[in-house]
Amino acid sequence: MKLEEIHKISVLGAGIMGHGIAQSFIIGGYPVILYDIQDSVLKTATAHVEKNLRLFAEFDLIKEEEIAPCLNRLTTIADLRHCVEESDFILEAAPENLQLKQKLFEEVTSYCKKDAILASNTSSLTLTEIGIQVKEKTRLVTTHWFNPPHIVPTVEVVKAEWTSEETFETAYALLLKIKKVPVRINKELPGFLINRIQMAMVREILDLYEKGVASAEDIDKAVRGSIGFRLASIGPLLTMDLGGLKLWFNVCKNLFPLINSSTEAPKALKRLTSQGHDGIKSGQGFYDYARDFSKEDLDKAINERDQGFLNRLKNLCID
Ligand SMILES: NC(=O)c1ccc[n+]([C@@H]2O[C@H](COP(=O)([O-])OP(=O)(O)OC[C@H]3O[C@@H](n4cnc5c(N)ncnc54)[C@H](O)[C@@H]3O)[C@@H](O)[C@H]2O)c1
Repeated sequence: MKLEEIHKISVLGAGIMGHGIAQSFIIGGYPVILYDIQDSVLKTATAHVEKNLRLFAEFDLIKEEEIAPCLNRLTTIADLRHCVEESDFILEAAPENLQLKQKLFEEVTSYCKKDAILASNTSSLTLTEIGIQVKEKTRLVTTHWFNPPHIVPTVEVVKAEWTSEETFETAYALLLKIKKVPVRINKELPGFLINRIQMAMVREILDLYEKGVASAEDIDKAVRGSIGFRLASIGPLLTMDLGGLKLWFNVCKNLFPLINSSTEAPKALKRLTSQGHDGIKSGQGFYDYARDFSKEDLDKAINERDQGFLNRLKNLCID
């Protein structure tokens, strides 16, 4: 299927990711049918999309008068057949469970058009496994969005074993059209690109924290004001070119043997979770939220986070 043949989009699963993904497509001008097995989730999803569109208008990312037409392009439904039968691009954002996703795609293929593209938002499973029951496998592709998906620009477009060049390029072009920042991932590796990079960094951060090298506040401040600051403007490979490859070569040679390369679960997370801590949801994580937030203020914390992200999105310049 080619980009110009895509007229309708279905999003399956209206949770954290699904409703934000739906929002990106309606802002991009596409009619979207959002499906979930729970009616209550669909109601909450619509309310979140409306609230987030207003926030986008507040930050001049869309015009006030675009809110109503955007909302008119969104339909919610609890019937899978009706959701997918006329769609050209079907994206699943259902729970991260292999059997559930396999069954969902199998069912979808019995209702949808033969050439509709089937995309998965899986974080850790492979499309090769998820699509095992799908007959026309060349139309399968992973599009991996980042939370919050309506705000974070990058979407990894992953070419799995069976993905055809046409499906891969159409998914890429579609995301570009709705003003996301798609990235071609040519091989399907667990964690794709960004989660592998993120996990390598997380391993070292948690080790430094556990060793008491710096406090949680100071680790966060240091990363935000240095590599975080730099990476928001230029990528890591350009950073190396600008700094000089000889220097980077020597620093890597000296430090690689000394930094953490453990394959065990991180001690800091093991300790905190075994004490019943789950971050802001439980009131205690690396920070003590009882001091700053009550549990009910999770929405407030997310809203503050999104306002910071939206300020950045306004000045986004990634080509
Ligand atoms: N949350 C993240 O930060 C994040 C980031 C990137 C990718 N992902 C991936 O996105 C997918 C969804 O994650 P999420 O965080 O939105 O989960 P979630 O639990 O918030 O939402 C999943 C939704 O799917 C619905 N659901 C359950 N069974 C279903 C079925 N058979 N068909 C359709 N919908 C069904 C649930 O009712 C729920 O509303 C997962 O594959 C996850 O790995 C999540």
